[in-house]
Amino acid sequence: MYELEEIDAVGVIGAGTMGGGIAQVAATAGYEVVVRDVETELLEEGLERIDSSLDRLAERDSLEEDPSAIRDRIVTTTDFEDLADADLVVEAVVEDLEVKREVFSDLDDVVESDVPMATNTSTLSITSIASATDRPAAVVGLHFMNPVPIMEGVEVVRGERTDPELLDLAHAFAEDLGKTTWESEDKPGFVTNRILMPWLNEGIRAYDEGVASKEDIDAGMRLGTNVPMGPLELADQIGLDVVLAASETLREELGDRYTPAYLLKRKVEAGDLGRKSGRGFYEYE
Ligand code: NAI
Repeated sequence: MYELEEIDAVGVIGAGTMGGGIAQVAATAGYEVVVRDVETELLEEGLERIDSSLDRLAERDSLEEDPSAIRDRIVTTTDFEDLADADLVVEAVVEDLEVKREVFSDLDDVVESDVPMATNTSTLSITSIASATDRPAAVVGLHFMNPVPIMEGVEVVRGERTDPELLDLAHAFAEDLGKTTWESEDKPGFVTNRILMPWLNEGIRAYDEGVASKEDIDAGMRLGTNVPMGPLELADQIGLDVVLAASETLREELGDRYTPAYLLKRKVEAGDLGRKSGRGFYEYE
């Protein structure tokens, strides 16, 4: 029932860090993309990030086409109705269950009844998001990693009611975007964030408790455990608000071992959200 060959147009909801990246990789793979966000200004900022990412990839000879040819396949809108022709939709709005459920319920009224809908949620229940629609079998988790154009992995998450054929399509779609996939059950945090979030929070606590400087904590984990980024630099890249929201969901579901670090909450309260706001644990241009 779900065939990759039948997907030409991809709808992306949310033009932030992840939605912009997903739109970019889908357009790069040849799909026509419609991106929806709530304000024109946010869409413009999203397009600017896509432009500079495409330019950097072109400089490294990583694109098979001119960046402008890829960009021509992306259109933006603030109007839900413009997603009506999408053959597949990927949602990447803020990590808030009520917001996501509302988006899926609205989508359900706009896109054709057989159109698959994917959520990029980091930690929320796919089953709960899917139950906001009349087609829970057509909802799947498609968890891209940040930054989307660079990171190879995509986690495919099976909701309680997800159609097995849709799972196959989700793997095939991600692979068509040049990604490599693995699968997780719909358990809190899936594979990646269940393990990553305590690691990030422990790095933040170690810094707050004066174990070492932030640079030495990151260097220690990079050089000592062979990961590409230490916990503080990675938290900055993900977005400290996103790390906090994910940690809070995991604590609700799995208990106090997921309690977010105090310093993480303080940083978010101060508006220091990491790279995207220019300051987190480090400062950015
Ligand atoms: P972000 O804050 O950069 O972007 C979210 C965007 O959604 C904003 O532009 C906001 O205006 C928009 N939005 C909010 N409500 C909307 C609506 N009703 N319709 C359309 N757009 C709406 O957040 P980010 O980091 O892109 O995260 C998005 C999702 O991806 C979250 O579920 C997050 O947990 C997940 N995720 C984030 C990763 C990261 O490293 N930042 C990694 C993997 C998943």
